[in-house]
Amino acid sequence: MIDRATVDKILDTADIVEVIGEFVNLKKSGQNYKGLSPFTNEKTPSFFVSPAKGIYKCFSSGSGGNAVKFLMEHEKLSYPEALKFLAKKYNIEIIEKELTADEIQQQNERESLLAICNYANTYFQENLKNTEEGKAVGLSYFLERGFREPVIDKFQLGYSREQRDAFSKTAISKGYKIDYLVKTGLTIKKENYTFDRFHGRVIFPIHSLSGQVLGFGGRILKKQENAAKYLNSPESDIYHKSNILYGLYFARQTIIKHDKCFMVEGYTDVLSMHQAGIENTVASSGTALTLEQIRLLKRFTKNITVIYDGDEAGIKASLRGIDLILEEGLNVKVVLLPEGEDPDSFAKSRNASDFIAHINASETDFISFKTKLLSKDAENDPVKKATLITDIVRSVAVIPDGITRTVYIRECSKILDIDEKMLYTETHRLRRQKYSQKVRPSVPYEELRTERPIPARPQSKETEVYTIEKEIIRLLLLYGNNEFTLLSKSRENKKFNVANFIIREIESDDLEISHPLYKVIFEEIKKLVNENQKIEDRYFINHPEEGLSALTVDILTSNYILSKIWQKNDNHIETEEMKLNEIVPETIKAFKNKRVLNLIRETQHEIKEAQENNDLENISLLQQRYIVLNELKKGFSKDLGDRIIV
Ligand code: CTP
Ligand code: MN
Repeated sequence: MIDRATVDKILDTADIVEVIGEFVNLKKSGQNYKGLSPFTNEKTPSFFVSPAKGIYKCFSSGSGGNAVKFLMEHEKLSYPEALKFLAKKYNIEIIEKELTADEIQQQNERESLLAICNYANTYFQENLKNTEEGKAVGLSYFLERGFREPVIDKFQLGYSREQRDAFSKTAISKGYKIDYLVKTGLTIKKENYTFDRFHGRVIFPIHSLSGQVLGFGGRILKKQENAAKYLNSPESDIYHKSNILYGLYFARQTIIKHDKCFMVEGYTDVLSMHQAGIENTVASSGTALTLEQIRLLKRFTKNITVIYDGDEAGIKASLRGIDLILEEGLNVKVVLLPEGEDPDSFAKSRNASDFIAHINASETDFISFKTKLLSKDAENDPVKKATLITDIVRSVAVIPDGITRTVYIRECSKILDIDEKMLYTETHRLRRQKYSQKVRPSVPYEELRTERPIPARPQSKETEVYTIEKEIIRLLLLYGNNEFTLLSKSRENKKFNVANFIIREIESDDLEISHPLYKVIFEEIKKLVNENQKIEDRYFINHPEEGLSALTVDILTSNYILSKIWQKNDNHIETEEMKLNEIVPETIKAFKNKRVLNLIRETQHEIKEAQENNDLENISLLQQRYIVLNELKKGFSKDLGDRIIV
């Protein structure tokens, strides 16, 4: 590995014109250089290099980036190879970071554990499908429960034989080491004997996001005193229960496609949902949701529907956990099943389309659900009612988005018949308490891995928001350090720094940039601004995260900018930079408007649905929401200069 300091040195030293000039015949054109694309067979030059920014952009192939990216594309080098190429050219000594002995050992150990899990997975499946015992005991168990072969195969279900050490013995005979078998938890070692953790159980393998098996759950077949219904793999170097969601590997594509995820409790619930055709389902595996699990899910969708078994005590116990989901900015809906049913039993007792119909008809948003659930107990009891209000307000207060909060406050005020102002005051008080000292965390890098899917929501409303968000990021990158004047009809004009203004406008209404990559850039810029540092586009162009750097280059070189910025030297009378007074507030206004408009549109849609279902209670709630949103819209579309800005 090349250490970060050396990478920076290489990037700072490399002269992009010189580097690319070795491969492309470049001609100066204004501040920039121009040439024929080396990637396509073009006749008129559309390949640009900007020495000031250290980037190239090829408009015929769409590729663009810094010198390293060029070498990767043109010479088909890997990232480290491209860096080494440049280091050689500029006589920079590369200090490779050697893995320590400990690190190497850890890496080997992880690989050994993965290999064992992979082997065990094949072994258990083989047992289930191709041995007499497996077929008679394991497979027939699944079939009797109504699971059919396709779902059994897809989830790679298996069976561990009755004989206490059948698996361990075979594994050892194949050369797998007992130490590692014990570390995966598959084998349990006592003083003078060893045995299989899962013997006599059916097996549910647990997969990582990339499909590797990390651990297992094993279910007992018959009711048995003193024996747990499920056993699970213990924590190990590869298996961390708190950041795994069962089924995510099989659900991820559908989650992205529907921009929604169903959350159930158990292994068999996931299986039944899949079998009923609802593939965007994951399970928390019986425990309370963790922050890691929520963040994992958030990469794929912001919309979660929790399906509850119809057991009121259980529901109340899990309400608190849902605040965690709200706090992460996710939208939570709830489906309640009839008492005594779980998704598995419920799906089995009717056909798939009835099941889906029930889900669609009974889905409610979490806050209203909670409010109604708790208000039943509090009807004639003022003390209970006070507790209830605190409880609801607590859930509302954690929601990061200001518009959403306002909407919920209105709704709760109506359901509970309490003064809306009072709810506002309480919410604000709680938020101040909770967030005053805490600076909101920026998005951690690991969330940014290039393999992560960028939400492919083709709906136009979403892309429209993204377009405006991109524009905001562009303004921040290009003019973040500039000043502009906020013009007002009724007030004194006032000067602002562009980045400060944009960040504060977005944050004061608690709005968020929704596109995951733009959000990362936004958070990073915010950090720079907080530390009184200048915003340098170089920093983002050379960012180690490829997705981020590619996006920056894309933004900086979009055709629009080419015409306005790259030709700045040609004595154009008006440059974009001179019009920031208009552009900055207009963009912010457009952003806020678009956010509210989307919500309005969604609400209209829901009203229509509620009308079709003749759901009177929901209709009146939704109409209320509709009014609130329209008021917010009016507020946002006023001239920013005439709104109070302190
Ligand atoms: N669970 C567990 N250990 C237990 C009981 C439950 O790990 N002793 C986890 C399992 O992941 C299980 C989930 O909690 O899937 C939900 O438990 P439960 O509702 O009891 O089981 P079901 O999933 O409904 O399983 P089944 O239908 O086979 O009874
Ligand atoms: Mn069940």
